[in-house]
Amino acid sequence: MKIDVNKYLRKSLLAVAPYQSAREEYVNDGRKMILLDANENPFATAVNRYPDPMQLELKTQIAAWKKVPINQIYLSNGSDEFISQIIMGCCEPGVDHIVLVPPTFGMYKVAATLNGVGVVEVPLTEDFQLDVSAILETSNEQSKLLFIPNPNNPTGNSFNRKDIKTLVENFNGLVVLDEAYVEFAEAKSILPELAKHPNLMVCQTLSKAQGMAGVRLGMAFAHAELILFLNKIKAPYNINSLTLKAVLQKLKEQELVKEQVVYLLKERKRLEASFKELDWIITCFPSDANFILIRVDDSALRYAQLIEAGIVVRNSSNSLGCENTLRISVGTQEENNILINVLQTLEA
Ligand SMILES: Cc1ncc(COP(=O)(O)O)c(C=O)c1O
Repeated sequence: MKIDVNKYLRKSLLAVAPYQSAREEYVNDGRKMILLDANENPFATAVNRYPDPMQLELKTQIAAWKKVPINQIYLSNGSDEFISQIIMGCCEPGVDHIVLVPPTFGMYKVAATLNGVGVVEVPLTEDFQLDVSAILETSNEQSKLLFIPNPNNPTGNSFNRKDIKTLVENFNGLVVLDEAYVEFAEAKSILPELAKHPNLMVCQTLSKAQGMAGVRLGMAFAHAELILFLNKIKAPYNINSLTLKAVLQKLKEQELVKEQVVYLLKERKRLEASFKELDWIITCFPSDANFILIRVDDSALRYAQLIEAGIVVRNSSNSLGCENTLRISVGTQEENNILINVLQTLEA
């Protein structure tokens, strides 16, 4: 499918010549070479050489795993880096803006602000769904990106697929569907539909179901021309050797990941049931993620009581429409037992 990149990307960056790293100038033909081209230290450790700037080995594995061609994959130092890069690449500071649907993941606004880019917010409906007509009515030529975390953070619910499709088909700019929690959701990823929508970008992360928040790896999937552009504006070695090695190993352990997801979903159900028994928990919002949002009588009080008991949750009360809420990640069975016991001792 064709794409007019001029419509989406910053004109001033389209012609930018990327930094040419030493390792990209020479293509290995399979021979063992003496590498004197990159001012590295020759004494062998596991990390004395620069990593592959294009991460070909890992991308080959990810392409097979996600069933997306290599030239439609961009790897980032956590999804956070991709979020910042796509804003920088699409939005002219002081001119363009991004569209957010609060309550939403906080990093989008931070990244926009750091890049001098404005934010237009279109709140979710009362039941935390997308206000499709308001988003489309509010958007204009300067609306370059629409960020939709699905499932949503901090509310935990998934959005109606039909609404997402309507937005992808009608939004003027690029739609970034952030599937950080997709492994925990009932609905499948939108990735198989990528080829149908040139303005759809999907990002996923190794930080949640894959259990690798510490290695910092995000994966973005989009039209090949958008990926080409992202590769042009990225830092040359944005994914380090230790991350590449750890993730390649992780990809061989997907059976264990699946088991852990099943375990966490079971635990989520158990937590939901126990929350619903307590009078001072007013609402337990339905979750499609590895966390649960609850509305309580007094979030500051309950947060402090949990801290006192040695348990840290997130007070989400500052998010739009989330007054008096706590966001609680699903832990191990043992951790959840302690949490449930503590919650049961708190007075209504
Ligand atoms: C919706 C969403 N996207 C992205 C991220 C961050 O992902 P990463 O750890 O890959 O930067 C988070 C983290 O909480 C998130 O909630």
